[in-house]
Amino acid sequence: MTEITELETKLSAAVAAAADPAALDAVRVAALGKTGEISNLLKTLGTMSPDERRAQGPLINGLRDRIAAAIAARKAELDEAALDGRLAAERVDLTLPAPPRRAGSVHPTMQVIDEMISIFAEMGFSVAEGPDIEDDFHNFTGLNFPPKHPAREMHDTFFLAPDAHGERKLLRTHTSPIQVRVMQRTNAPVTAPQFAHGQEPPIRIVGPGRTYRRDNDRTHTPMFHQMEGLVIDRGIHLGHLKWTLDTFARRFFETDAVVTRFRPHYFPFTEPSAEMDVQCDRSTEVVKIGEGSDWLEILGGGMVHPNILRICGLDPDEWQGFAFGMGPDRLGMLKYGMPDLRDMFQTDIRWLDHYGFSAFAAPSLATGLSR
Ligand code: PHE
Repeated sequence: MTEITELETKLSAAVAAAADPAALDAVRVAALGKTGEISNLLKTLGTMSPDERRAQGPLINGLRDRIAAAIAARKAELDEAALDGRLAAERVDLTLPAPPRRAGSVHPTMQVIDEMISIFAEMGFSVAEGPDIEDDFHNFTGLNFPPKHPAREMHDTFFLAPDAHGERKLLRTHTSPIQVRVMQRTNAPVTAPQFAHGQEPPIRIVGPGRTYRRDNDRTHTPMFHQMEGLVIDRGIHLGHLKWTLDTFARRFFETDAVVTRFRPHYFPFTEPSAEMDVQCDRSTEVVKIGEGSDWLEILGGGMVHPNILRICGLDPDEWQGFAFGMGPDRLGMLKYGMPDLRDMFQTDIRWLDHYGFSAFAAPSLATGLSR
């Protein structure tokens, strides 16, 4: 065997054996690089006689061309194999189930407020709102709590530091300031466009919102929610109030078995005033509405005090009305069986996953409040 044939056999075997691009490149350098074996052979041509060169030239050049072609072919093979490997490794199986995505949920209090609004909307009420930071007039004085009146003690108030004019704003202790904002047609200071402006009677509004008192136990939190109700019209009497609240209770608890009871109470801004209880069974873990011999207070209300009408520029001989205030948090605890009010505002995502509602389950009387 000639030297050239031997070299070709050896190099061809090396090319075929190169398992990756780096190994193949090493073979290429060893054969065709500056001092590679084929390059060295090519250099010998210069030292040959013309006859010898004519015989050896085509042989050596042929060897160089075939090995170069073999290297190129092997390179293409390796590249193809690498691509196949990547395609196999990065393959996406479209039939696999998608990983679960965390979906948010609606807080029970917001759900309950929506339920309440849909019940009252059907009775012809609209929604009015007021600011969380109130002034003394809307929270107290305008609601017939004179300065220093002991009834102010019923509300453990958070006061803010006095402002530049020495006025101490406060966190509203109830949603009743919304009543004043709605009834006061003149002089009503417009705090922000989203808050209720004065309306001409007849008035029928509900006013949901956050309220604040210095309380903290199983059934009280420093921040809680209320929903105010106000009706002003001619010839409004206690019967209207009782029917409205009784109907609300049956629709809210979604059973006609609800029994309500009105107990006389005192609020400076209503006369007469009452608290309403619902009959329930509290002998077991789950509170059952419409059974048993316990009573649970769910709201306060009464006939709007003539002083309030006068303060707001309405003639009590022409206009009468009723008002009520209820707690969505507590009503939600009762309806959906949450044992501790404080859990509602811990922002614990596990609690919310358990008690929260789907954003698609918007309450309406037409489709059923809770489904
Ligand atoms: N604002 C009262 C409270 O927080 C509730 C109430 C509202 C009572 C409207 C009568 C009329 O205790």
